[in-house]
Amino acid sequence: MKKIKTQVGIIGAGPAGLTLAHWLKRNGISSVILELRSREYVEGRVRAGLLEQNTVDIMNDLGLADRLKKEGIEHDGVNLSFDSERVHIPFAELTGGRKITIYGQQEVVKDMTDAWLDADEELYFEAGASEIVDFDTKNPKIHFKHAGEDGILECDFVAACDGFHGVGRKTMPKDNYRSYDITYPFSWLGILANVAPSTDELIYAYHENGFALHSLRSETVSRLYVQVPNGESPDDWSDDRIWSELSTRLATPGFELKAGPIFDKSITPMRSHMIDNLSSGRLFLAGDAAHIVPPTGGKGLNLAIADVKHLVDGLVSFYKHNSTDDIDNYTQMALRRIWRAQDFSNFMTTLFHKQEEHGSYNYKLQKAKFDYLKMSKASRTTIAENYVGLPFETYEY
Ligand code: FAD
Ligand code: DHB
Repeated sequence: MKKIKTQVGIIGAGPAGLTLAHWLKRNGISSVILELRSREYVEGRVRAGLLEQNTVDIMNDLGLADRLKKEGIEHDGVNLSFDSERVHIPFAELTGGRKITIYGQQEVVKDMTDAWLDADEELYFEAGASEIVDFDTKNPKIHFKHAGEDGILECDFVAACDGFHGVGRKTMPKDNYRSYDITYPFSWLGILANVAPSTDELIYAYHENGFALHSLRSETVSRLYVQVPNGESPDDWSDDRIWSELSTRLATPGFELKAGPIFDKSITPMRSHMIDNLSSGRLFLAGDAAHIVPPTGGKGLNLAIADVKHLVDGLVSFYKHNSTDDIDNYTQMALRRIWRAQDFSNFMTTLFHKQEEHGSYNYKLQKAKFDYLKMSKASRTTIAENYVGLPFETYEY
């Protein structure tokens, strides 16, 4: 039986777990990370790409942004399109210079993993946590298995950063939270293609065939998404069919979509999930372990990192100032931003996805919201400040 001891036991080496580990280390607090999957799997998992200003600032402060500064692509604005008509939202201008940066989530994970292991810190891959016990005492323990051997990680606090399917949320006593679930009746088919992006800034588009999003990863790699019915498989979508739908849905006068070889295809169901309590005793949840938002608007990874900020505040005041005030406030502080993101992600999803027939009442509401963007700077500013992410101070009321 392998026994490890640390101050904070972290489950999950995704963006939440890795950011937490680095941030605690910066404050002299030790942690050990357990990760279910292999390093190759985690670093190859294609997901998010949109980093808010706050996320980039945090990576910078933690000294983890060398490659991000070189390879990340800063955007000052975004294009929103509806029935072939396009509105540009210049968010830097509307939010006093705040921006987003496009940089793949797996690159974030690679940079953080390299820095952690280069510093000789402990991270066990293929070490799935099976059970969290004694979290209602001062000595919680995480049971795990690594390389065929059973192990116990003893710690002062457990941070479950283990994503939507992890063990953290399942361990929370059922009577200490309320949960909320919404399943949208559509999914995203996402692709990566070896072709120069056809746009400098992202395009979100409503079309009567369904939603489309043009994003990018570099000067030579494009990232695009199309709305598909639930239950479809990537095999239902040939490359030709994907490019043809994308060019129909993204069409606006003067815009031409360049097609190229597709090297990754995956389907993501769209859902919202929330629980309204992120801790029980000395067990704390952060990131997708506690909440899922539909990806329209790119909030998930950013929310995961924002949760970590509040958790670090709590753990630092515990270890450095012997105070439990901030850690007791963790749920309350994190929930304000999480509900804001739930609302914004739902707003962007319902505005840009095909839900009912063209011409229906709901369609008319979608169109009225889009038209309001054309006529009102206040409406454009609302999108802009949510899209780049509100500063942390905004939530301290
Ligand atoms: P995860 O990244 O899921 O990490 C959890 C980790 O825990 C995993 O590595 C998992 O293997 C591990 N784990 C699970 N169970 C155990 C266990 N029992 N023991 C040990 N380890 C365990 N967000 C954005 O902000 N911007 C975007 O542009 C964006 N686009 C997206 C596009 C798509 C197609 C998808 C699918 C998601 C997108 N998201 C986006 C959401 C974003 O990817 C997630 O919100 C983000 O990964 C959450 O990070 P996390 O660290 O909380 O969880
Ligand atoms: C990306 C994903 C999103 O969900 C989004 O809203 C914007 C960009 C991306 O993968 O680049």
